[in-house]
Amino acid sequence: MKYKSSKLLNKKDLKELLLSEGIGKSEKELKSIQDSFRNSNAVFSVWDGKKLVGIIRGLTDGISRGLALDLFVHKKYRNKGLGEKLLFKIFRKYPSLKWHLKSSKMARGFYKRLKLIKDEELWFTYKRGR
Ligand SMILES: CC(C)(COP(=O)(O)OP(=O)(O)OC[C@H]1O[C@@H](n2cnc3c(N)ncnc32)[C@H](O)[C@@H]1OP(=O)(O)O)[C@@H](O)C(=O)NCCC(=O)NCCS
Repeated sequence: MKYKSSKLLNKKDLKELLLSEGIGKSEKELKSIQDSFRNSNAVFSVWDGKKLVGIIRGLTDGISRGLALDLFVHKKYRNKGLGEKLLFKIFRKYPSLKWHLKSSKMARGFYKRLKLIKDEELWFTYKRGR
């Protein structure tokens, strides 16, 4: 397995990674995902040869706080430690920051396992159109 920090991810690789979970994305959606990675402060990906098998991105001011987003490991490569490694690569790139993230339902056990602290009061969400 090889870890990379390039922010430029290929749409075809992203498409195949998400398809491992049965998530189909249109070209437009893939372009948005690609752009969101390109515009992030930190990106890590993990590769099995030429196959993209995991991704994560982080947004941060570099001074106080960071937001970890879009952690995703290829379905066939889960429970091998890749998700943990990707997450801590983001945290360790800016070790003095307080990092936040919003868990998907299925990932709650994962974050608990890694001893991240569940902060009940952190999230308020603004939705467009209000
Ligand atoms: C959540 C996710 C990133 C975990 O990645 P992973 O590579 O399988 O996780 P790891 O192998 O690094 O797991 C680290 C530890 O957590 C455990 N773990 C992994 N997923 C878990 C889960 N859903 N519930 C409980 N424990 C879990 C592993 O068994 C491992 O424990 P161990 O050290 O005792 O062996 C992966 O399941 C995924 O991509 N899910 C779909 C997308 C998603 O929900 N992403 C999170 C967005 S917030």
